[in-house]
Amino acid sequence: MLRTHTCGELRLEDAGQEVILTGWVQRVRDKGGVIWIDLRDRYGTTQLIFKAGVDAQGETAAALIQKAQEVGREYVLKAEGKVIERYSKNPKMPTGDIEIEVSALHVLNPSKVPPFTIEDETDGGEDLRMKYRYLDLRRSVVRRKLQLRHRMMQETRKYLDGQEFIEVETPVLIKSTPEGARDFVVPSRMHAGEFYALPQSPQTFKQLLMVSGFDRYFQIVKCFRDEDLRADRQPEFTQIDCEMSFVTQDDILNMFEGLTKHLFKTVKNLEMGDFPRMTYEEAMRTYGIDKPDTRFEMKFVELNAVAKGKGFNVFDQAELVVGINAKGCAEYTRKQLDALTEFVKRPQIGAKGLVYVKYNTDGSLKSSVDKFYSESELKAWAETMGATPGDLLLVLSGEKNHTRKAMAELRLHMGDELGLRDKNVFKPLWVLDFPLLEWNEDDQRFYAMHHPFTSPKPEDIERLDTDPGTVRANAYDLVINGVEIGGGSIRIYNRGLQNKMFQILGFTEEEAQKQFGFLLDAFEYGAPPHGGIAFGFDRMCALVDGAESIRDYIAFPKNNAGRDVMIDTPSTISQVQLDELHIQVKQDVSQQRAFQK
Ligand code: AMO
Repeated sequence: MLRTHTCGELRLEDAGQEVILTGWVQRVRDKGGVIWIDLRDRYGTTQLIFKAGVDAQGETAAALIQKAQEVGREYVLKAEGKVIERYSKNPKMPTGDIEIEVSALHVLNPSKVPPFTIEDETDGGEDLRMKYRYLDLRRSVVRRKLQLRHRMMQETRKYLDGQEFIEVETPVLIKSTPEGARDFVVPSRMHAGEFYALPQSPQTFKQLLMVSGFDRYFQIVKCFRDEDLRADRQPEFTQIDCEMSFVTQDDILNMFEGLTKHLFKTVKNLEMGDFPRMTYEEAMRTYGIDKPDTRFEMKFVELNAVAKGKGFNVFDQAELVVGINAKGCAEYTRKQLDALTEFVKRPQIGAKGLVYVKYNTDGSLKSSVDKFYSESELKAWAETMGATPGDLLLVLSGEKNHTRKAMAELRLHMGDELGLRDKNVFKPLWVLDFPLLEWNEDDQRFYAMHHPFTSPKPEDIERLDTDPGTVRANAYDLVINGVEIGGGSIRIYNRGLQNKMFQILGFTEEEAQKQFGFLLDAFEYGAPPHGGIAFGFDRMCALVDGAESIRDYIAFPKNNAGRDVMIDTPSTISQVQLDELHIQVKQDVSQQRAFQK
């Protein structure tokens, strides 16, 4: 090594030692006769000092100081010198008791002035930081996030290896299938007009591994989905993908509850109790969403029985009247209530209005619908909702699903306003018994809610023909703090049932055979009962660290438009490449690209 120590390890007890450090210049302070340089590497920062009067290694102190003066931010240095006790110590730095009295300085590489400061609080905007991501990654706050990811990855492997899981790599160039999100496709040079697709997940391969008898499989694997991006979605992301044979749903939930607890324990030193479980139906009824944030209560209470039939047209015509109790908020001002009404009326939420009832501390009730409801009628609402004086009831109404969705947003908003969503509190929840199918109005057909390989609940199978929309699946999600961390299911392992599923999804027998024949065929060679789960690894890292965006936990992420602004891609390819791949870019697209250049 070019160095004897890192920039993070020297302490007072090392005083007197001759050392060599290497690293990047964080800061230079020039006080005339004395110069300090903070030298940084991955391990920490150590202060170098250059003083007049210290001649060494054939260089005069004056020459050394001059060299130090010429050094700029982010220069790469090698400094030799003696560890000495600092005159004014810095208790905030682990190395703050010492400094290095430099006797020789080598500039290993100079640096241009970086486009933003390499500090925890940087002056660089998101775009600039992403363009120079390699500099952004020098910031310790960002590096720490990737170190956390590394730790999580190692601990995942440790736990699963300990449970006899075998890590198997599955292919990245696979076949495009019409279900799920859009595929990213890769044109084949050797087979004109044919394409590979990048996997949205290794789903079918892991099932085939169960047919092969692997019994317990896992993979920390890149997945690719061409979908609209958000803070918690990237076009390429990582899953902890797992599958097990000869298991019940309970076995899977217990195993992966174990993994989650292990990660929180080893990475956060946090003991988690047993994870509560809730059906999809209950989650939708009480939280209006299949991934409820259970850090706070504020459950939905349905008010149809007490609020309808009193002459208030809006409620009378509504399929659902539902309220939440914002405890202790009866003192909300007109302005605050107007702001809440504005919030639910935003196009993204789309409620027509908001009804409120203030249950005042003196026991009186005041509402926005006093014209239609007497105080005693409002009292009945309050009782139904378990409200006590001082509470504020917020009520929405309309079509059931739409109203639940809007109320779920309002609930989260209130949770934020009331400070009930502490990022240092972790509330896990298994959501079970998802519907097998989801009706799509636009396409007038059913889609698999999880994926087409998910098994219906045995007791619901008989309704597959008569009332498929009500069939429940052996499918489950792990939700923590309102974030969908993982999802999986018990699978179909019988050709007949799998065929039936494809038929319900609108596939002809030929189409099913063409797309998924390999799996259907495999089911006829002794497929064991099996099931599994996949965790969104990037989401898990962000969640554990109390962050919302997964981007910082990915070394080189894409921006919101799906671009990597550092390497500037997606990008055009040469005509030669296009010809080899048998691709003709539409003329209007080509002209547009040329114009943009
Ligand atoms: P699913 O599609 O639910 O299941 O994905 C599993 C988990 O992956 C995460 N995730 C994402 N993370 C970041 N960016 C994205 N674009 C993205 N999409 C999904 C989520 C999600 O819970 N093969 C099945 C699993 C199985 O049945 O075993 C699957 O992929 O946290």
